[in-house]
Amino acid sequence: MNRSNERAISVTLKSIRLPRFLDHPQQHLDLEHMPEDSSPPSGPSGSSPKSDVSRRLFLQTIGISAATVAAERQAANADAVMKPGGATIIGPMPARTSLQVNGRQLDFIAEPATTLLEALRERCDITGPKEVCDRAACGGCTVLLDERPVASCMMLALDATDRKITTVEGIGTIDAPDPLQEAMAEFDAMQCGFCTPGVVTSAKALLVRNPRPTLHEIRAALSGNLCRCGAYPNIFNAVLVASGQDPVAEPTDRGRTTSGGHA
Ligand code: FES
Ligand code: FES
Repeated sequence: MNRSNERAISVTLKSIRLPRFLDHPQQHLDLEHMPEDSSPPSGPSGSSPKSDVSRRLFLQTIGISAATVAAERQAANADAVMKPGGATIIGPMPARTSLQVNGRQLDFIAEPATTLLEALRERCDITGPKEVCDRAACGGCTVLLDERPVASCMMLALDATDRKITTVEGIGTIDAPDPLQEAMAEFDAMQCGFCTPGVVTSAKALLVRNPRPTLHEIRAALSGNLCRCGAYPNIFNAVLVASGQDPVAEPTDRGRTTSGGHA
């Protein structure tokens, strides 16, 4: 095999999950310096200072991985059945799935029972939504589905294929944060931060449909997002400030009019 073919294989197959012992950039990309066979390297200590992975072993592993992926792709959707009414029944084999997430079309193969949360985190490498309760009780996995907040742990990925999905990663980035994210940072509205992606996503949905919510409306919109650290006062104030309003002195003092005039 010539050098350009080797390079093409290494680039093409970057996305294939390699065994852990190969999953190191120096090991799986430095074909040029790999020994030709897998015989123990010679040296004073009897072990190679660079790598114990041979070129042959590497290429054999790549071949197995590529064949596995090709077979998986061929099998995907092969058992789908079209019913007379037009509905397609997919499964039980893994199925080809496509999701539109944060403006990108992402294709992958997953079992039909894969939840949207599992698909995002494990197939699409989008880890903003968090799995906490896995039963629609905490809001840690909140994503926007056509701009409405949903618990992604309670929905199948296959049911979201024709919907626009937005996760916290699509609301803002480190370099270009959303005003809501800036307000969350300004008000120190988190401790462990585990609830924060879900809180930001739910609050963003609120601000899109109601640009100047009252404190009561903010509380109601975030009632499905549990914060075990109890950062609610700062979260509520961050949402108020992000909507161009003043923070209030007692944002968790339910039922009383606060200094900022919000009930
Ligand atoms: S993990 Fe989905 S609501 Fe808790
Ligand atoms: S900041 Fe820890 S759960 Fe909310």
